[in-house]
Amino acid sequence: MKSFLLASGNAHKAEEFKELFLGGLQVQAAPQTLEVAETGKTFIENALLKARAYAEVYKVPTLADDSGLVIEALPHLLGVVSARFAPELPHYSDKCQKLIELMAGSTGAQRKAYFICVLCFYVSEEEVYFFEGRVHGTIGMELKGDKGFGYDPIFIPDRTPADGKSLAELPEWKNEFSHRARAVQSSLEFFKETMDK
Ligand code: IMP
Repeated sequence: MKSFLLASGNAHKAEEFKELFLGGLQVQAAPQTLEVAETGKTFIENALLKARAYAEVYKVPTLADDSGLVIEALPHLLGVVSARFAPELPHYSDKCQKLIELMAGSTGAQRKAYFICVLCFYVSEEEVYFFEGRVHGTIGMELKGDKGFGYDPIFIPDRTPADGKSLAELPEWKNEFSHRARAVQSSLEFFKETMDK
């Protein structure tokens, strides 16, 4: 089975990825977190920066992810800088509340948004693979739910039935259909095909 070192010191992320890749790929947590400046203008550039930095230090194939929330009418507000939105507010509940206030005058299609995850598998400078997953939805009018993390309480995924539940109220659905789960699924299909040949 192919094995990749996760280019992140975040234990929560490592556990989540281990579970998502179970039976398909081996993902090991990195022994130490490296400070990598996320200076890219795209999710792809940032994922590559992280994967390459860990590969250069640890000399093994690496896996990095870069993710965020994109509000379609305000693409630069969060996007690649999702983690750095409203830095004066350390808690995500406050960041979510601030976003809701900023969008108070936005209705209908102006509230459309998506979560995106880009995975970068770095084997060598000549062999790099990218996969992307998205989940589309809208920004809700209030915070709802206590599961998940980050912007989950204000994100209402497009689902049938359209019951208005936020991602923070749908942990099982999220495990299966999140941007991360979808990117992982694409990568597993690819590696399964290439390994079977
Ligand atoms: P990264 O760890 O540098 O990729 O930053 C991800 C940013 O997007 C953080 O601000 C997260 O809160 C946000 N984010 C990414 N995925 C999710 C998710 O599944 N739910 C809620 N927020 C997310």
